[in-house]
Amino acid sequence: MLRTHTCGELRLSEEGKPVTLCGWVHRRRDHGGLIFLDLRDRYGITQVVIAPEDKEAFAMTGRVRPEWVLRITGTVSKRKEGAARKENPTGDIEVTVSEVRVLNEAKTPPFEIDQMGEVNEELRLQYRYLDMRREKLKDNLVLRHRLLQATRKFFYDRGFMEIETPILIKGTPEGAREYVVPSRVYHGLFYVLPQSPQQLKQLSMVGGLDRYMQIARCFRDEDLRGDRQPEFTQMDLEMSFVTAEDVMQINEEALIAITKELRPEVKIATPFPRLSWADALSLYGSDKPDLRYELTFTDVSDLAKGCGFGIFAKTVESGGVVKALRVEGGADLSRKEIDELTEAAKIYGAKGLAWIKCAKGAFEGVPVDKLGTDLVKKIAEKTKAKDGDIIFFTADTFEVACISLGAVRSDIARRRNLADPDVFAFAWITDFPMFEIEKETKELQAMHHPFTRPKDTDIDLLEKEPLKVKAEAYDIVLNGYEIGGGSVRIHERSLQKRIFDILKISDEDSERRFGHMLRAFEFGAPPHGGIAWGLDRMAMLYAKEPNIREVIAFPKDQKGKDLLLGAPSVIPEKQMKELGIKIVKV
Ligand code: AMO
Repeated sequence: MLRTHTCGELRLSEEGKPVTLCGWVHRRRDHGGLIFLDLRDRYGITQVVIAPEDKEAFAMTGRVRPEWVLRITGTVSKRKEGAARKENPTGDIEVTVSEVRVLNEAKTPPFEIDQMGEVNEELRLQYRYLDMRREKLKDNLVLRHRLLQATRKFFYDRGFMEIETPILIKGTPEGAREYVVPSRVYHGLFYVLPQSPQQLKQLSMVGGLDRYMQIARCFRDEDLRGDRQPEFTQMDLEMSFVTAEDVMQINEEALIAITKELRPEVKIATPFPRLSWADALSLYGSDKPDLRYELTFTDVSDLAKGCGFGIFAKTVESGGVVKALRVEGGADLSRKEIDELTEAAKIYGAKGLAWIKCAKGAFEGVPVDKLGTDLVKKIAEKTKAKDGDIIFFTADTFEVACISLGAVRSDIARRRNLADPDVFAFAWITDFPMFEIEKETKELQAMHHPFTRPKDTDIDLLEKEPLKVKAEAYDIVLNGYEIGGGSVRIHERSLQKRIFDILKISDEDSERRFGHMLRAFEFGAPPHGGIAWGLDRMAMLYAKEPNIREVIAFPKDQKGKDLLLGAPSVIPEKQMKELGIKIVKV
């Protein structure tokens, strides 16, 4: 080794010892004829002192600049009275240097490594290796490593086997576009990168492996957001001979254990609350509600039925709902704030946002005149509104009314700082519909994926009333983010084929796309189920970061580009020829 210790290691107990350290120059100070350097590596920072008497070393250090790489040899000394730095674990000592070697020089970095101020993200991504030297990203990557380690340990200890599934595969439907890879050997044929190892983990269950887990890389060509990357990491898991309850139980234990290890100070409510998908929408306006704050909705459709406010009455008449959200102390919201909240609701399809303020026993607001005081009083009673409160309303189809009021709920929580950062509010969302109508094609599609098992009690409804069928599926949410999802699977060929038929996947198509699954189910497939956690989102929440790029070593930017490597990029003409690819302008 070129060094005897790391820069985070030395303490007073090593006083008088000869040591050799390697690291980067974090800061340099010239002080009373002495040169002080803070030498930094992944483990910490150690102060080294060079005295003018040591002519060679002194002359050498006179040249060094921040981020140069040095190897220093010297003796551990106690710092002078008053010079100790308690906040630094090595702050009681310094190394009095006898020899300095420059291992490498460095240009002036494009941003300061020793300051934690805001730096343009593009620059940070372009020079990710320099960003990694900064404390914040380094700490996030250490935390991510600990999350992976704790996750693996928990499941290894319970008999799960880590199985590596291939990256070059055939498509697996998770609802996003796929990345395709051309074949050099078979022109015109393509591999597809996995959106998840879903089918392969199920096939491992058919293979009798019983308890599978994998830290798996997944690829989805979809619109990017703060909590989405085109390639991301799942903790993927599958178990044989289990019910949904069994899968949820072991995952709940795992999440509690891991949270206690990584964030021992946070408060967690256990057992995790469970909400049906319909209740989550109906009460919070989201299938991933943030349960750190209450703010629940009240259904006032019964009161709005036949009322004098046309929009409310008509909505109820045509089978829609009127949802109300009471915000305690919200009567002080300004017109501008209410307009902004209205815009938030409109993004999710609301045509408007009605409101009533309760002040000194009187009511003020958009539909007050039309509703009449008696009805407004009844609404106030039902929503438990008091003086100083505001009630917001959306009137639309169930989903639009709920989801748009959900956006208002989140916006209010953000404005009023209602979410306690030291609470981890996990919840299970269950009883998802098996199918939904795809917005553009208006065709039926699987809400999760087509391998999800319908609830046994709903199997008779499959062909007759598919939209009423509930799935044996569950999502795990944390502080308003979906951090995982899974289900019990179909393991019988006949039932799987029925689902493909309902999804209008022709015999030919189902054979071409999923023939391997249908065949495997004919060879004694066991009942099985599983889940996948989004590890990037978990790391983001554990690290209290606002987006997943902050917890990924080499992320893509918001437009899906790798600014460090410069990908995607053109490939040489020769390679294109080999692959049989020609670019056609469309
Ligand atoms: P699902 O599609 O719900 O389920 O994915 C599981 C979890 O992965 C995370 N996730 C993402 N994270 C970052 N960037 C993305 N683009 C992205 N997409 C998803 C989410 C999500 O909850 N095969 C099933 C699992 C199963 O049924 O066992 C699946 O992939 O946190």
